[in-house]
Amino acid sequence: MVKKALRIFLFFAIFASLLGPLACAPKTDSLSTSQADSLSNPKSEKKYKDLIIGYAQIGAESEWRAANTISIKETANDLGVELRFLDAQQKQENQIEAIRKFIIQKVDIIGISPIVETGWDDVFQEAKDAGIPIILVDRRADVPEDLYVSYLGSDFLEEGRNAARVMAELVNGKANIVELVGTIGSAPANDRYTGFREILKDYPQMKIIASESGDFTRARGKEVMEGFLKTYGDQITAVYAHNDDMALGAIQAIEEFGLKPGVDIKLVSIDAARGAFEAMIAGKLNATIECNPLLGPQFFELALKVVNGKPVPKWVPSAEGIFFPEDASSILPTRKY
Ligand code: AHR
Repeated sequence: MVKKALRIFLFFAIFASLLGPLACAPKTDSLSTSQADSLSNPKSEKKYKDLIIGYAQIGAESEWRAANTISIKETANDLGVELRFLDAQQKQENQIEAIRKFIIQKVDIIGISPIVETGWDDVFQEAKDAGIPIILVDRRADVPEDLYVSYLGSDFLEEGRNAARVMAELVNGKANIVELVGTIGSAPANDRYTGFREILKDYPQMKIIASESGDFTRARGKEVMEGFLKTYGDQITAVYAHNDDMALGAIQAIEEFGLKPGVDIKLVSIDAARGAFEAMIAGKLNATIECNPLLGPQFFELALKVVNGKPVPKWVPSAEGIFFPEDASSILPTRKY
């Protein structure tokens, strides 16, 4: 009898102790989303809508850059990220100033496409000291690895190598090439210059007879090509342009000089922007090597991981292809930039 009473007492005591905390806990459906988040996950992971991102863009020098800016802005908008975007108008000092502003504003992450490779150590260190991670987008910076969390972008060396491989095929291993170089000191110009020459070592009859910067713009590409044509005239058999915009400028210069671009002078460039596809359809450009500007989705995905303390790769390469005139008409309608 006593045992039976004890068993009944113990049953109710255990039952009450299990119910107790639940009875005292507030009901989940009366919690705010963030309270509910922190109950299910004590560290409370941030969501896209919680992020404040500072972004220091280079400027608007090319069709590529315009597409890159749209990708960043549209993705931020779609995800509900608060984006503070600065167009540095092709000036490194404006990008540095933007980073300092973002530090004062205590943004969560700073994204930057560094216009040139060098000169970033001090300001990146300031961001690090303030506890704000930097993600390099599109272009690398020549800084110690601990000053940025990740680089998201292309393999510019391989783009240069691919341009040389394609050019070698086009000219059967023999050419007088003029080169339109990108912005001096920028990662893509440095690497596309080096990668191209690496492959040319195997083709002794392919000679670079002139090389000059067209600053990645159509207007400068045209001017520099006019200068090349004035000096070398029809000795020129090929143009290697570090981007499509400069190639399009060169095409105009060649036509005004009275030669046929794509026929008398072969042209290979980099980016695979819509303008390049149109030029290939018109028979004026012989190939374009893709450099993908649509980096918005990958950038914000990386940023969210970094803010939540998740591991990210030091380099996230973008997937890219090579395009030729024969496929240009069918591919053009699918191009987003
Ligand atoms: O950094 C990428 C390069 O910058 C693109 O090839 C060029 O068009 C742009 O301006």
